[in-house]
Amino acid sequence: FGKKIVYFEKVDSTNTVAKRLADQGADEGTIVVAEEQTGGRGRLDRSFISPFAQGIWFSLILRPTFPPMEVSKLTLVAAVALTKVLRRAGLIHCGIKWPNDILVGDKKLVGILTELNASVEKINYVVMGIGINTALGKKALPRELKKTVTSFAIENVPVQRVELLQDVLRELERYYDVAGEQGFAPILEEWKVLSCMLGRDVEVSASDRSFTGKAVTLDENGNLMVETANGMERVLAGDVRVRPV
Ligand code: BTN
Repeated sequence: FGKKIVYFEKVDSTNTVAKRLADQGADEGTIVVAEEQTGGRGRLDRSFISPFAQGIWFSLILRPTFPPMEVSKLTLVAAVALTKVLRRAGLIHCGIKWPNDILVGDKKLVGILTELNASVEKINYVVMGIGINTALGKKALPRELKKTVTSFAIENVPVQRVELLQDVLRELERYYDVAGEQGFAPILEEWKVLSCMLGRDVEVSASDRSFTGKAVTLDENGNLMVETANGMERVLAGDVRVRPV
């Protein structure tokens, strides 16, 4: 990954640019990276703060051959690869919060936004957008995010952005190949070990319902299994809050 790099000082969103390039036929493994995003996007129509040189803001174009139904597994693959790299880089306590965040303690360090272009039976492309807060300081954060967002700088761990990005790309490619060759089962097992939420009480808000319970495991498709007073619930999508201990 990253043999072709499209670089911007400033862009609205690297995901938007990557989708345009993918529409025009860009190769798998192409990345779009920016120093600053003016319209960084997160899941559920949220915005994603991405100030100049304070993080690694990039998007990766993938053209997987598995069915569109399985695309959410890719986010889990990325989360495992990223967590490995970040722990190696010194954030030894970071862990995965289902489905797509990496936290240090209860604070978000990384967000992943996976966007799919597919027909019913075939994926045309996937754009995987990843934001890693490196030098992000508390000053750049609006008040409501100060307690919920962190960065290498806030955690007092020194980091080199370029080296970190190289390491991330290498590990993403390695795990993507493992998923292609051996399927998702071995990656799901690693995900469970690297998760910071299994065994903890969570609040789930999905579009049609919300409930509380204990996050117990993932099923074979990467859905979150939550044990509630009324039995086991399977969460396919939605927002999950880990309740403080
Ligand atoms: C989330 O937290 O819900 C996902 C955040 C994803 C942010 C990254 S930064 C690079 C790429 N471009 C975007 O606009 N979003 C992703």
